[in-house]
Amino acid sequence: MCGIVGYVGSSHAKEKVIDGLRRLEYRGYDSAGIAMPIQGRIQITKAVGELKNLEAKVSDPEFDAAVAIGHTRWATHGKPTEVNAHPHGNMDNSIAIVHNGIIENYQELREWLAVEYGIVFKSETDSEVIAHLIGLYYDGDLLAAVNKAVADMRGAYAVAVMAADEPDKIIAVRKDAPLVVGAGNGFNMIASDVPALLKYTRDVYFIENNETVELTKDSVVIYDEKGSTVDREIKSVEWKADAADKADYDHFMLKEIHEQPSVIRETLLNRLNPDDSIKLDDISMTKEDIENFNKIYIVACGTAYHAGLVGKMVIEKMAKIPVEIDVASEFRYRDTFIDDRTLFIAISQSGETLDTLAALRDAKDRGARILSVVNAVGSSIARESHDVFYTLAGPEVAVASTKAYTTQLICMYLIGLYMGSTKGTIDKEYYDFMLSELKSLPAKVERILQDEEKIKALAERYHFNEHVFFIGRGLDSGVSYEGSLKLKEISYIHSFAIAAGELKHGTIALMDKDTLVIALATQDKLYEKMVSNIVEVQARGAHIIGLAKEGKTEIEKTSDEVIYIPKCADEVAPVLAVIPLQIYAYYVALEKGCNIDKPKNLAKSVTVE
Ligand code: M6R
Repeated sequence: MCGIVGYVGSSHAKEKVIDGLRRLEYRGYDSAGIAMPIQGRIQITKAVGELKNLEAKVSDPEFDAAVAIGHTRWATHGKPTEVNAHPHGNMDNSIAIVHNGIIENYQELREWLAVEYGIVFKSETDSEVIAHLIGLYYDGDLLAAVNKAVADMRGAYAVAVMAADEPDKIIAVRKDAPLVVGAGNGFNMIASDVPALLKYTRDVYFIENNETVELTKDSVVIYDEKGSTVDREIKSVEWKADAADKADYDHFMLKEIHEQPSVIRETLLNRLNPDDSIKLDDISMTKEDIENFNKIYIVACGTAYHAGLVGKMVIEKMAKIPVEIDVASEFRYRDTFIDDRTLFIAISQSGETLDTLAALRDAKDRGARILSVVNAVGSSIARESHDVFYTLAGPEVAVASTKAYTTQLICMYLIGLYMGSTKGTIDKEYYDFMLSELKSLPAKVERILQDEEKIKALAERYHFNEHVFFIGRGLDSGVSYEGSLKLKEISYIHSFAIAAGELKHGTIALMDKDTLVIALATQDKLYEKMVSNIVEVQARGAHIIGLAKEGKTEIEKTSDEVIYIPKCADEVAPVLAVIPLQIYAYYVALEKGCNIDKPKNLAKSVTVE
């Protein structure tokens, strides 16, 4: 969850590192710090709270260097204090490190270092042991010292290190935590995520597990676990530098909501040939492979899991293969039926969610074919999958996922249609109809976005309720979960989603005049049943905001307010239905004065279990 940035060049390293850290703010942090070799010593500066607090402390232009490493921390071991913030130094600060991840055996190492070598620890963190281990092994060769230290460490880490005696280099090492090198002309950078580099370079090397990298201003040398050099291909990242800027929007979340027409279009069109057949040339899934699958598991967390809920129903309908869906943290610890006839679909925006990654590894070890739906190019989940279906959403900065979700849905439709048409479980007429429906989505999303003021007015009227319920049937029940998560994570209102037909089995007991129910009724064949469910909750005094397709006005009789989405096929309605829910959650959070892009207790990328 922490952010790492390092820069090796000729001057002004401070500005580059702080700028990079700002672009990683979306990962969530509670403190930040920077280390620079200045006049033969490593100067470490740290500050609690926002990055501007750190900037203020290092604002003197004289206080700069050609090399720097920086860090934004999200507390795991030890409180969010200055002393616990990174970088951490060894006893005399001749070594400084920044670390993302967890050192599982840090207690053991701490005790050993304290008892055997009299090392006094300053912080409560697991990370500090890394600085002391490297300090202990250092005898003029930083690379060798890092390799020795790594042999003692258990856990997950991306670490960047500098030494006062070798002030022109950074050594970094990775195991189960993201790390990427940005290559430039006369400089090189290291970071935990691509957006930190985009202002300076698009040329990147993705560092693999158990690799070490040595950076100077003119060279990048990657070593494998055995110490042999690795010939890694440089990749050019397409994301635009301003893709990680807020532009004229007040929040990244609002900007990302508004980007949905274009990212949906890109994700879709990128996968279509001129004759409208689906282009999966980089995905090696043959007709035989598809016919061989006898079950599919979709595994993900949070919003990505909610995209999977829709994906399950869509793929089952189109490809006629049983699909099971589970949250990754549960999937990992239950007895699943995986073999070489299983297709395992991992969905993840960041591609770094540890639970999803661990579930993927387990399924892969047991013979499953791994297809991932990922947004971050070159991320761990993408690299460890047999095939990757990229969502072309661009960098998603707000913690609350919006455009990643709708592009994940597009991938679900394309996977379902591809499998169904390859297997012959859908006919040409249905395929053509679905494609025209998918192609019409960007314009329809655009139309919903034009209703933003109306939805904002609803949020102004309905943001006092302590409990909000989201109900729906069929695909709408999947979207209800996403609407509920959006509302609770950014506005801190207690919300709950439930399949509408389940209400009368218990939850309806909670309905009264203080309850707000957001009722999704976009599925034509379930519309009347939904209207009956709305009547049931209305009879208990609940306030209702209904959500239906244009022309389906029956719902007005039983709802206090109705939001309409453009007419569409039931299958694709989730892409449209979620948009008003995202906007509603955004404006409720705004009304309540919440920190929308960085909600409390949350981070963008959850790289710990
Ligand atoms: O990067 P991932 O898609 O794997 O992340 C999964 C969840 O952590 C993420 O969707 C989370 O639930 C978001 N905060 C939802 O808005």
